[in-house]
Amino acid sequence: MVQIAIDGHSSCGKSTLARALAQELAFIYIDSGAMYRAVTLFFLENNVDFFNHHQIQEYLAKTEVDFVLAPSGNRTLLNGRDVEERIREMEIAARVSPVATIPEVRRKMVQRQRELAQNQGVVMDGRDIGTVVFPHAELKIFLTATVERRVERRQLQLLKLGMVVDYEEILHNLYERDYIDSTRSDSPLMKAPDAIVIDNSNLSPEEQLAIGVLLASSRMKII
Ligand code: CDP
Repeated sequence: MVQIAIDGHSSCGKSTLARALAQELAFIYIDSGAMYRAVTLFFLENNVDFFNHHQIQEYLAKTEVDFVLAPSGNRTLLNGRDVEERIREMEIAARVSPVATIPEVRRKMVQRQRELAQNQGVVMDGRDIGTVVFPHAELKIFLTATVERRVERRQLQLLKLGMVVDYEEILHNLYERDYIDSTRSDSPLMKAPDAIVIDNSNLSPEEQLAIGVLLASSRMKII
């Protein structure tokens, strides 16, 4: 089954491209970042000590992450509870990257990501999709954009969810997450050698989709 991997830094439009590309190709879309955000929420709700491996294992065993497709789009379920809006809050954004460095967490999420993608065409976005989750993906895209564009986009996205967050706070969060994600020892964010880099700073969602569709069709000859 065809796999398309989209990786890149925080808030550079990966999910916008991945969602639209999946729709265009009639593939499923999996937002791997939502899964790390959901685990983070569960750990925070249960006061899990991020350095206590025994506790981490205990609570990971009780963590089930799923997705359902609603008319409003993909919804993330944590143990059956819809947490789609909650996981987008800054409180989660501020804590997710340390949680995503924990090897036990990554092992469980990667296993779940592969399971969810079984037997169907998939577009998945994240940090380690082309390098670790699907190293043999038919198409790998590494998305990038200027930091200013990334902050503006995240600010707008949060505003649409009714959250007013100032530029500096978002900027700080993006830098911090990019740093932790790129320097962790377990599956750090990096471009796969065979990934195609797209800088979408000056591309509209439609333009970046058109490029994605073109690349997908040339790689797969399925359209
Ligand atoms: O939407 P945004 O790009 O800001 O982040 P996200 O995709 O929701 O991912 C949230 C966080 O989860 C990232 O900053 C990483 O720390 C972690 N993550 C990861 O480690 N591996 C992935 N495959 C996806 C996300």
